[in-house]
Amino acid sequence: MADTAAHDRIAFLRGLRAVRAFRPEPVPQGALDDILDVARWSGSASNRQPWELVVVRDPAARRALTDVEGYAQHLAGAPLGIVLVMNGVPGYEEQEIYDEGRLCERIMLAAAAHGLGSCIGWLVGQGSADAKALLGIPAERRVKTIISIGYPDGEAQRARPKRPQARKPLSEIVHEEKY
Ligand SMILES: Cc1cc2nc3c(=O)[nH]c(=O)nc-3n(C[C@H](O)[C@H](O)[C@H](O)COP(=O)(O)O)c2cc1C
Repeated sequence: MADTAAHDRIAFLRGLRAVRAFRPEPVPQGALDDILDVARWSGSASNRQPWELVVVRDPAARRALTDVEGYAQHLAGAPLGIVLVMNGVPGYEEQEIYDEGRLCERIMLAAAAHGLGSCIGWLVGQGSADAKALLGIPAERRVKTIISIGYPDGEAQRARPKRPQARKPLSEIVHEEKY
């Protein structure tokens, strides 16, 4: 029984994939509440919790965010996006970038626990400043990541070209005792 539970959890963790095509129905408030609470409990360096989140549902705002420089075009078709706003404290860049990765992965896993798909969208170049201006985020904050969230459009997912080997084999990445 314990083995089955572990097997199911491992399958859940290993199964997290980027979803870029979504059905139009909204993300239920209960699911969003869970996602945000899991985000809140993410671990961070020295427990600084150097983050705030902006939940964006408004279609015009989502479209505007896809027009800024970056790779978050999937946000246009997602019912909801979460913009990760990192404190941007000088001297803490390394910690904040690491913390942001943890925060992001937890949000995606919490979404998956509710059967929701998600995808990272990274802002580059002028995209970060433009997104901050659009959302009223203070200029000194660091904004790099938007996470699109919604129920996966199964048909669109199935139509995606299949990649036979989506990950390097363990034999290429794991070293025993010494590199
Ligand atoms: C740091 C980081 C940045 C990413 N940026 C984007 C992005 O800007 N747009 C996008 O569509 N996907 C983005 N992704 C998703 C990756 O492309 C995706 O996780 C990877 O191709 C593996 O695909 P899979 O998760 O479906 O197996 C990003 C992922 C990471 C970890």
